[in-house]
Amino acid sequence: MKALVYHGPGQRSWDTVPDPALQDPTDAIVRIDSSTICGTDLHILKGDVPEVKAGTILGHEAVGTIVEIGAAVTTLSPGDRVLVSCITACGRCRFCKEGHYGLCMGGGGWIFGHLIDGLQAEYARVPFADTSVYKVPAGLSDEQVLFLADILPTAYEVGVLSGRVEPGDTVVVVGAGPIGLATIMTAKLHTPGRIVVVDRDDSRLAKALDFGADVVINNGSEDAIGRVMELTEELGADVAIEAVGVPETFELCTELIRPGGRVANVGVHGHSATLHLEKLWIRDVLITTGLVDTFTTPKLLKLIASGRLDPTVFATHRFSLEETMAAYDVFGAAAETNALKVVLEGAKHLQLVPTGDAAGVAAS
Ligand SMILES: NC(=O)c1ccc[n+]([C@@H]2O[C@H](COP(=O)([O-])OP(=O)(O)OC[C@H]3O[C@@H](n4cnc5c(N)ncnc54)[C@H](O)[C@@H]3O)[C@@H](O)[C@H]2O)c1
Ligand SMILES: [Zn+2]
Ligand SMILES: [Zn+2]
Repeated sequence: MKALVYHGPGQRSWDTVPDPALQDPTDAIVRIDSSTICGTDLHILKGDVPEVKAGTILGHEAVGTIVEIGAAVTTLSPGDRVLVSCITACGRCRFCKEGHYGLCMGGGGWIFGHLIDGLQAEYARVPFADTSVYKVPAGLSDEQVLFLADILPTAYEVGVLSGRVEPGDTVVVVGAGPIGLATIMTAKLHTPGRIVVVDRDDSRLAKALDFGADVVINNGSEDAIGRVMELTEELGADVAIEAVGVPETFELCTELIRPGGRVANVGVHGHSATLHLEKLWIRDVLITTGLVDTFTTPKLLKLIASGRLDPTVFATHRFSLEETMAAYDVFGAAAETNALKVVLEGAKHLQLVPTGDAAGVAAS
């Protein structure tokens, strides 16, 4: 089969690789019908995630069709359409039993395109299939559910729920990339009074307005703290959600928060940030961090099915899976291309043949 393979920092290629095969009885093999690229894939390519070994297939977000199941898989059958999420759950460890799948100690957690081969490929091996994939309700398109594989549950769980957004709150979202925009979308489920978005890029701020932000602030040219204080009668925001991942934006969140407010950090940080405990301790500020668990995926899926949530607006560019190399170029140059999420469309004519039989796969 064909797949996007990481060959060390700065190196990727679209290679012919062996078809995946069942390894454990709890595995399934999935034909990838739609996949996408994440900012984290770009971090990996920069060499920021050293656990990813050269030779690993990248990607941790997909919608696909079950091709083959292991002997212990009981709830899935070949032909089922499934969402394959960035988080895999063994379903048996202490953290899975608590719904903290991101912390799975039984071999799950974030493994695709990280510790095992990922989903930017024609087929993939999915471990712990019964407890990890979600059947796609009939009538929903791949594109309607694809962004449930990462950005929506991440923004909702690590941002909105950890930040305890309540009706009427002034919520400041720092960073208007896909995660910040998904935070705007899912914060609205809790009816905040006002959503204020801070970014340095005017085109991203324009997107934030399209997604329903009430106020946007360019912190490259404006005093973000001053503006938030002005908007909140000098009190500060009820909730600040960090969706960038640099020390400066985390520190900004801790400065524009009101006494008793909540700072929810979503950004992945590569450097230490300064925590001004000497100012924060007396202000009762709550600070949370986290990796997505995806425990809200079923709820978000219901909201999509009922028409209350429409994530298709994230898809700015579409490519065939074979064009994944070009899709990376477009996604990696988001500042020029205005890309949010690129959709990689698999070849649905690829037969649902038992894998390990490359010859059985119809050529495109
Ligand atoms: N916690 C989790 O489980 C989890 C999961 C997925 C992604 N993430 C992280 O969330 C963060 C956001 O992801 P994304 O895909 O939206 O990233 P992105 O790079 O597409 O967007 C970041 C945005 O921040 C803006 N920005 C950069 N520096 C800024 C500054 N100093 N002040 C204000 N704005 C600034 C950029 O203009 C951009 O619009 C990343 O750190 C990503 O790794 C976390
Ligand atoms: Zn991701
Ligand atoms: Zn587990």
